[in-house]
Amino acid sequence: MIKLWMAPAGLHIEPGQPKDASDLARIHAQGFYRGWPAGEFTSFLNEADTPVYVACDAKRKIAGFALIRIAADEAELLTIAVDPKWRGKRVGQALLKATFDDLMMSPARRMFLEVSEDNAAAIKLYGKAGFTTISARKGYYPKPDGSAATALVMARDLG
Ligand SMILES: CC(C)(COP(=O)(O)OP(=O)(O)OC[C@H]1O[C@@H](n2cnc3c(N)ncnc32)[C@H](O)[C@@H]1OP(=O)(O)O)[C@@H](O)C(=O)NCCC(=O)NCCS
Repeated sequence: MIKLWMAPAGLHIEPGQPKDASDLARIHAQGFYRGWPAGEFTSFLNEADTPVYVACDAKRKIAGFALIRIAADEAELLTIAVDPKWRGKRVGQALLKATFDDLMMSPARRMFLEVSEDNAAAIKLYGKAGFTTISARKGYYPKPDGSAATALVMARDLG
């Protein structure tokens, strides 16, 4: 069965493939102070319990992705990032919707995520997608200036 979800701006969403690892590492590094090596993404892309969803055009040029970890009846959004050129076009929102849809087929019934309290764009995106803040972890994210930001833990029921 081919999995495919519609996305804005002529894009669609489909499962990530091992060959996407370097593109995901590049897009991730554009969105985060600390990037992850491509090898990390290769591992995620090869494991059934860490599904990856990519938003791409007809030529499969990747504009953004979401990476999930499934453990029993819980899912965690490990990361989501959209290429700066594609931000603000509701690609992130479409990635989350595709994720929720696909997770209906998994045992996961609740989804969690962590987000830096100073990441206003992501907090707004998650709020619109139905997540609410359930706790906070102080000093969780290192910042370039040597200080650390609080992480908000957010959750949402699935299905
Ligand atoms: C967070 C991120 C994934 C959002 O992706 P995006 O495709 O630009 O987001 P969308 O266009 O789908 O936005 C959906 C909603 O989020 C909010 N939002 C998105 N970007 C925003 C911004 N810069 N400022 C304020 N709100 C924003 C809006 O409410 C928007 O809904 P609206 O268009 O109806 O107003 C993207 O900014 C990104 O890659 N950031 C760097 C990586 C990151 O921080 N990831 C999250 C880590 S927890």
